[in-house]
Amino acid sequence: MRSIGISTLRRLANIINEAIDQIESVYAAADMPLPSLDAPFNPADPAEALLQSPTVEGATLNIMAAAAQLSATVASPVVFALHASQAFHISACLRAASEVNVVEVLREAGPDGLHASEIAAPSKTDPVLLARLLRLLATHNIFREVTPNVFANNRISSVLDKGKPSKVLFENRDARHTGTSGVAALIEFSADHNMKGAAMLADTMLHPKEGELPFNRAYRTSESIWDWLHRPENVYQMQRFAIGMQGSIALESTDAIHKGFDWGGLPTGSVLVDVGGGTGHISLAIAQKNPGLRVVVQDMEDTIKDSKIYWREHLPSHVESQMVDFQVHDFYTPQPILNAAVFMLRWIVHDWSDDRVVKILRHLRDAAQPTTKLVVIDMILESAARVLDSGEEVIPGSARPSAPAPLLPNWGAGKAAVYNLDLVVS
Ligand SMILES: C[S@@+](CC[C@H](N)C(=O)[O-])C[C@H]1O[C@@H](n2cnc3c(N)ncnc32)[C@H](O)[C@@H]1O
Repeated sequence: MRSIGISTLRRLANIINEAIDQIESVYAAADMPLPSLDAPFNPADPAEALLQSPTVEGATLNIMAAAAQLSATVASPVVFALHASQAFHISACLRAASEVNVVEVLREAGPDGLHASEIAAPSKTDPVLLARLLRLLATHNIFREVTPNVFANNRISSVLDKGKPSKVLFENRDARHTGTSGVAALIEFSADHNMKGAAMLADTMLHPKEGELPFNRAYRTSESIWDWLHRPENVYQMQRFAIGMQGSIALESTDAIHKGFDWGGLPTGSVLVDVGGGTGHISLAIAQKNPGLRVVVQDMEDTIKDSKIYWREHLPSHVESQMVDFQVHDFYTPQPILNAAVFMLRWIVHDWSDDRVVKILRHLRDAAQPTTKLVVIDMILESAARVLDSGEEVIPGSARPSAPAPLLPNWGAGKAAVYNLDLVVS
């Protein structure tokens, strides 16, 4: 009797069981319950910190990969493919819910939730439509339908909480994202501009025009997304993007930035140039732990204005001691800082085609001293194919661990963010 299918199912199930054992033993040792999916996310709960322990992080990745692969293995392939083709509804509903501040209205309502008619009232939107889209989201474990048409926040929906009273959000729409964690801004931006651009992917591929990206086709512009965002009429979108970038830190382990490079090993007074740094939130996090570093944040004009405000709010000591400079600089022009210890590019390289990236890097090389280091923070696109390890490491540190078989070696759905990010600004 052939048992390959069954054996694969069991092996996937075993990976899940083993991961559950690992997670439960970490929580049992700490005498804490695992945070519930039904309750709002509380970053101050010590049980949340345990999720970032290497054991729990590894086990979580295995569960995400194995559960998705298990579903793909047993589901009707037609149903599975159709679901994938309609995933845009999740994205669209999530943005719609966020735009009308559902999460904050539900936070104020508490765990018993609120009827869709009351959720829709402050935004004067259609309650029946709102109930349908919240139900779709609840079906994907985002929000909880407590009783028919009554919804409450859950662990996932609550991360979109902008932390302000809903009344304030409705009264001052332009400042909705100001001073927030940036998660809602990132999600709204993704589900707005990135989704509209992505909808044009096949059209741009089938009918290519010189220099045209899906974004250009969707927005009927020849400008880059960055120039488009910096148009005066798009200031809200530009600020939402910059704040969303602050939220992007949630995609990485909290201390990844501190572990990835020996910032503490740089002599006091060394200059860190955050090239295309946005508000400079990454260099700010580095400077918080390494106050002897001088920082130069470079970006486009309006973003630099926001960067100054962000630093004054979050690390005023560095601003007052003039240890941070803000510079409007186009990275396609010669780099003006000639004494950099480090040029840092976070989430820049993935934004541009190879020939454009070469231009950016050439300007940095021309301005570099022999001791200047280049720190590129981006994601590596591992193949989904299992290849034999040649044992040769072309770039030191570039070899990545592989997931155990029968999981996809790149952890499949567990690492979806990497592959999504690769395509967002293409
Ligand atoms: C994906 S964001 C990354 C921002 C920041 N490094 C971070 O990790 O949050 C890309 C940044 O590149 C900036 N940018 C785009 N074109 C630029 C140019 N020609 N010169 C300088 N900055 C540019 C954008 O304004 C934006 O802040």
